[in-house]
Amino acid sequence: MTCNILVGGSWGDEGKGKCITYLCYKDQPDIIARAGVGPNAGHSVEFHGDKYGLRMIPSGFVYTGARLLIGAGVLVDPEVFHYELDYLNKYQVKGRTFADLRCSIIEPKHKEQDKANEYLAKKIGSTGTGCGPGNRDRVMRVAKQARDWESMEGFTADVPLEVNTALDEGKDVFIEGSQGYGLSLYYGTYPFVTSKDTTASTAAADIGVGPTRIDEVMVVFKSYTTRVGEGPFPTEIKQEEAESRGLEEYGTVTGRRRRVGEFDMEFARESCMINGATQIALTCVDRIYPACERVKDYADLSGEVKRFVEDIQDATGVPVTIIGTGPDMEDTIDLRDELL
Ligand code: GTP
Ligand code: IMP
Ligand code: MG
Repeated sequence: MTCNILVGGSWGDEGKGKCITYLCYKDQPDIIARAGVGPNAGHSVEFHGDKYGLRMIPSGFVYTGARLLIGAGVLVDPEVFHYELDYLNKYQVKGRTFADLRCSIIEPKHKEQDKANEYLAKKIGSTGTGCGPGNRDRVMRVAKQARDWESMEGFTADVPLEVNTALDEGKDVFIEGSQGYGLSLYYGTYPFVTSKDTTASTAAADIGVGPTRIDEVMVVFKSYTTRVGEGPFPTEIKQEEAESRGLEEYGTVTGRRRRVGEFDMEFARESCMINGATQIALTCVDRIYPACERVKDYADLSGEVKRFVEDIQDATGVPVTIIGTGPDMEDTIDLRDELL
């Protein structure tokens, strides 16, 4: 029986989608449950040559033996949910994907309000996916729940009951977060944050699992930092510099250009502390050190990359157990066995 959580360590887009795909394909958990805010997230998954951008359905979908659940804390946009069920048809997601009956619904009006609100759209740089207004209505206790929404009929479940029963029966559960520590409503760069906490404790609460049941908390960092939308970014570099270093990136959901900066050790240390990290996944080392592209063994990394990994471990006190060397699920160095 294991119950593990994966969350973003900085401002989202750390490469959680790819890490989740790898971990779920390899470990084959019985349940993969999605936590986080809602369809503002865009996880990229590359699997056997196919590329997917996902906003609602758990990124672990590639492992077809798992139940795919969306926790009560997550906002559900029924249009996105049904679109993705069709989009991922090849992986037999229908019949194994369910949202908690208590999930709050994003209605078309929430998306309109998000886009029309100058403060959210311009000052904060929101994604316009209706999450802020959706969470506002939830807090005001006027939001609809999945159990009340016609198109969600037949697609709901009692997620905490399922997850806790599975753990009682000795099964494995994997909880995937979205966004990242820097976007947390509590601990991030307020007010330039998303509409709820995004740290590991909230990811557990989103699914309805108590803190005593969690085994590992994996925090994901990219080897450089990116941020979309407004807000402070102490290690930001100029666009031209990012371009000349080949670090240009565009958002999965909004297509906006991501701001780019150096890895921030102090920020990583804080993020690990507040998330209670037990492991770190470090992605995109190939984009900083191209010689390690697609490398699968730690021994084959250059001294420079190894020093970078050691510096992160020293600064955070947390072992780096997953290293991403390319966007495909298979471009991964897995050091988890060395911890045993
Ligand atoms: P949010 O849920 O929106 O926060 O997204 P995310 O954390 O899932 O990240 P996202 O997929 O938006 O962005 C990460 C980008 O890096 C994607 O384009 C991935 O395909 C890519 N990626 C992930 N890991 C690696 C890696 O190790 N190397 C390279 N070169 N690309 C990677
Ligand atoms: P909102 O959550 O759409 O209101 O956006 C609030 C802030 O969080 C904006 O700066 C967004 O760019 C950022 N944000 C929200 N979700 C994500 C994500 O999944 N990845 C990266 N940034 C995000
Ligand atoms: Mg993303």
